[in-house]
Amino acid sequence: MSLPLAVLVSGGGSNLQAIIDAVEAGRIDAEIRLVLSNRADANGIERARKHGIPTAVVEHAAFASREDFDREMIRIIRAHGAEVIVLAGFMRLLTPMFIREFAPNIVNIHPALLPSFPGVHGQRDAAAYGVKIAGCTAHFVDEIMDNGPVIIQAAVPVMAGEDGAALGERILAYEHRIYPQAIKWLAEGRLRVNDRHVHLEPSDAPLAAQPQGALVSPPLEEGF
Ligand code: GAR
Repeated sequence: MSLPLAVLVSGGGSNLQAIIDAVEAGRIDAEIRLVLSNRADANGIERARKHGIPTAVVEHAAFASREDFDREMIRIIRAHGAEVIVLAGFMRLLTPMFIREFAPNIVNIHPALLPSFPGVHGQRDAAAYGVKIAGCTAHFVDEIMDNGPVIIQAAVPVMAGEDGAALGERILAYEHRIYPQAIKWLAEGRLRVNDRHVHLEPSDAPLAAQPQGALVSPPLEEGF
């Protein structure tokens, strides 16, 4: 059975688009049952509609508490039959209740090399700090923000004089590669977590060449 996903977005949805493209091209054996946003104006909702994917908007401001907001999201996600939560630029903190409902089947993409630069401005914080290597992380989600077991990371060098926006653009290009790859592995049932270490079961899938100017680990497979 294809992995039934709910993708949660708050904004542009470019990671969502990368996942849609990978699913449509048959590179991931998954079905996006729902795209859910906390913002009616999220471009990700528009992207989903263009691909005939069911959408829902749950505006967080309409709820008295985080728990009420999360309960409504859980209801809608369950009603669509989704079992795996894919956070793709979803900018709300989830309650432990939500996380326990779906764990361990919740993944996130973060625009920094965790555990460095957690939070909502990973790329900007890395550029401001002056690190020489930045990057992105796809990881399982636990009850602590940006803390869960790491599935795959891409490291990119920071260019001289580069600001957070420019660095963020270059990082984003790698997010679009590592996140669909991580979801493919999840859909294949090849990820095992032991004491916060993620083990990738080997397969005979051919590997892509390491990208120029970046280091991706574990290495990407062909097509990602
Ligand atoms: C991405 O860079 C993602 O890593 C980041 O938001 C952006 C969403 O872009 N997420 C976080 O910072 C989570 N803490 P997108 O809507 O175009 O995919």
